[in-house]
Amino acid sequence: MYAICALLALLVFLPPLLRHSFPYFWQDANYLFQYLRCGVRISRYSKKKPFYSVLDGFLEHVKKQPEKPFIIFEDQVFSYQEADRHSNKVARALRNHAGLSPGDCVAVFLGNEPNFLWTWLALAKLGCIASLLNYNIRAKSLLHCFTCCGANVLLVAAELKSAVEEVLPTLREKNVSVYIFSDTSDNKDIQSLGDKINQASDEPLPQSLRDSINFHSKAAYIYTSGTTGLPKAAVITHHRLWAACFLQGMLGVKSNDIIYINLPLYHSAGLLMGVLGAIERGITIVLSRKFSTSQFWNDCQKHNVTIIQYVGEVLRYLCNTPKSDSDRHHRVRLAIGNGARMDTWKEFLHRFGDIQVCECYGATEGNVGFVNYTGRVGAIGREVFIHKKLFPYSLIKYDTEREEPVRNSRGFCKEVEKGETGLLVIKITKIAPFTGYAKNREQTEKKQIRDVFKKGDVYFNSGDLLKVDHDNFIYFQDRIGDTFRWKGENVATSEVESILILVDCIAEANVYGVLVPGHEGRTGMASVKLKEGKQFNAGDIFTTVAHHLPTYARPRFIRIQNSIEVTGTLKQLKVKLSKEGFNMDTIRNPLYFLDDKAKTYVPMTRSIYEAIISKQMRL
Ligand SMILES: *[C@@H]1O[C@H](CO)[C@@H](O)[C@H](O)[C@H]1NC(C)=O
Ligand SMILES: *[C@@H]1O[C@H](CO)[C@@H](O)[C@H](O)[C@H]1NC(C)=O
Ligand SMILES: *[C@@H]1O[C@H](CO)[C@@H](O)[C@H](O)[C@H]1NC(C)=O
Repeated sequence: MYAICALLALLVFLPPLLRHSFPYFWQDANYLFQYLRCGVRISRYSKKKPFYSVLDGFLEHVKKQPEKPFIIFEDQVFSYQEADRHSNKVARALRNHAGLSPGDCVAVFLGNEPNFLWTWLALAKLGCIASLLNYNIRAKSLLHCFTCCGANVLLVAAELKSAVEEVLPTLREKNVSVYIFSDTSDNKDIQSLGDKINQASDEPLPQSLRDSINFHSKAAYIYTSGTTGLPKAAVITHHRLWAACFLQGMLGVKSNDIIYINLPLYHSAGLLMGVLGAIERGITIVLSRKFSTSQFWNDCQKHNVTIIQYVGEVLRYLCNTPKSDSDRHHRVRLAIGNGARMDTWKEFLHRFGDIQVCECYGATEGNVGFVNYTGRVGAIGREVFIHKKLFPYSLIKYDTEREEPVRNSRGFCKEVEKGETGLLVIKITKIAPFTGYAKNREQTEKKQIRDVFKKGDVYFNSGDLLKVDHDNFIYFQDRIGDTFRWKGENVATSEVESILILVDCIAEANVYGVLVPGHEGRTGMASVKLKEGKQFNAGDIFTTVAHHLPTYARPRFIRIQNSIEVTGTLKQLKVKLSKEGFNMDTIRNPLYFLDDKAKTYVPMTRSIYEAIISKQMRL
C-alpha cells in the first residue's frame, strides 16, 4: 500500500515537484528514492510470515559474517557470532529462572555495556518487551517508571545495586523479581544472574517463541523526559524499530563503516538510530559507557571510527576542548544527530574537518522525521511535496503566551505563511501512527490535537516550533517552553544563548524566563558557566548582548554556575532554574543584574532585590 501510494503520488506530482524545487531537484529526488525504498522494505516486512523483525536481520548477519566484530567495548571485541551466543545464554537463563513467556515486559536497568545489548537481543529472542529504564533515575522516579510499564521482572547492573536496594521494599510488595548481573548476591531479595547465564546453553532459541509477534506488537518502552513532570513510557512497536533503523541506510552508511556510540542506550537516539541502525547495516559498533570529551577523538582514532552520533550540546562540548594538532587525524566522515546550533555546526566543521553533519529531526514517540540531505547549514530538512502528501504535517499558528494553538472563530487552526514560525503537527494515520504512552491516557491525549482543520481530525502535537523558508528548507526554531514572552515579544532562549557564548569569558549558557512580581510574561535570565581561568567580564557581556539583542531579549539576570545541568540526552534543564528565578534568599551562586543606566551588569544587591520584589523598580 505504502509503496503503491507513493509511486502513484510520484507520477502525478512529478511536474509540480520539478517546478517547485528545481535547484534541489536531484537531491530531492535521491532522497525520495531512498525514502520510497525504505517504504517498500517496511511494507514487505510487515507482510512477511512469520514476521521479519530487526532480530531476524541480526541473525542473518550472524550467518553471513559470524567473525565480523559486532561490539568493541573497552578493548574487548565481540563478533556477531559471539553476540548471538551470549544473548542465547542470557535468554535461556531468563527463561529458565525468571519464567518469562512471550509478551512479558521486562525492565532493564543497565548502563552502556555489552550486557545491555545481550539483554536486548535475548528479550527479542524470547518475544518479550524491553522497558528501558534511564540509569540515572532513582527513588520515586525509578518506581514510577518501573510501574508504568507493567513489568514483573527487573534486571539490574551490578553497579546500580544500591539504587535498587533503596526501592526494594516496594518492589517486594509488588512481587517483583529482581536479578543482578553478578555471579553472587548478598541480598536475599535480589537474585544473581551472572552465574545462571554462565551455566546456560548457547543453543538458539525456538523461533516459535516469537510466533505471536507482528508489525504492530510492542517491542519496547522508551522513556521520554519532556520538560516537566515524571517521565512517560513511549510505546515502541516493531514498525517503529524498522522505521528508525533505516535512517543509517538512507544516509549512505555502508557495511564497512564503524559507528561510535556513546549516547545512552535507553534512549531512541543511541539504541534505535544507533545500535539497531548498525545491526540493520551489519556494521561494527564501538560502544562507550558515556560521552567524554577527552576520550572522544582518541576512541575515534584508535578504532578507525567513520560515523559518530551527537545530540544536544555534544558538538559544542567538542568544540570547547583545547585545540590540538591531531584535531583532524581521524576518519570520521558522517555525524548523525540533532540539536546542533548553526554557529556550533560551522565551528565544528572548521575545526575537525570535512565531516558530513546530518541533522535529523524526530521524536521518540513522534510520527514523522526530517533529514537534512542537502548540506544547507542549520536546516533540518526540506519540505518535499510527496513526503508531505504521505505524512500530512502542518505548521500552525501558535500563541506562545497562552501556550496553545491559535484558533479561528470556527475553532480551527490556521497554517502559517512561508517564512513564519509555527507549531509542527502531524496527522495521525496508518503509516504515521502514534502509539502513545503506557498507562498514561492523559499524556497520550495531551500529545494529540483534535479538530485542527476539520471536525474530527487528529494530529500529533510535536511541541516544536519550526519554520519553512521560501526555498522549502525546514528549520527548527524552538521547543515549546524554550520560548518566553516579555514586553509582548517572543524571546527564543536558544538565540540568546548563542549570543552569550560569543563572549570570551563564557563557556556555556542556559537561558530561560523568570517571573517578576508586577510584570507580565517572563524576563530573561541566564545561567552561565565561565571558561577555565576566566573572570566574569560584566562590560564585555553587556556590550555583546546590547550589540546583538533587542532590549527585551537581553538577560536581566545572570547566575554563575560551576556546571550547567543537562538531561540524559544532554539537553539543558530549564524548568527548575526558572522556578528558582533570581531569589537571593535561596540561590547561593553569584548573581548579576543588568543595570540599564550603568550600561553594564552589576552584582545583585539586597536593595536591588527588594526594589524588584516590592514592585518599586520597573524592569
Ligand atoms: C505475591 O506472590 C505470592 C506468592 O506467589 C502471592 O501469594 C501474593 O498474592 C502475591 N502478591 C501480589 C501483590 O501479587
Ligand atoms: C585502522 O586503519 C589502519 C589503516 O588502514 C590500519 O593499519 C589499522 O590496523 C586500523 N585499526 C584498527 C583498530 O582496525
Ligand atoms: C547537512 O548539512 C551539512 C551542512 O554542512 C552538510 O555538510 C551535510 O552534508 C548535510 N547532510 C546530508 C545528509 O547531506
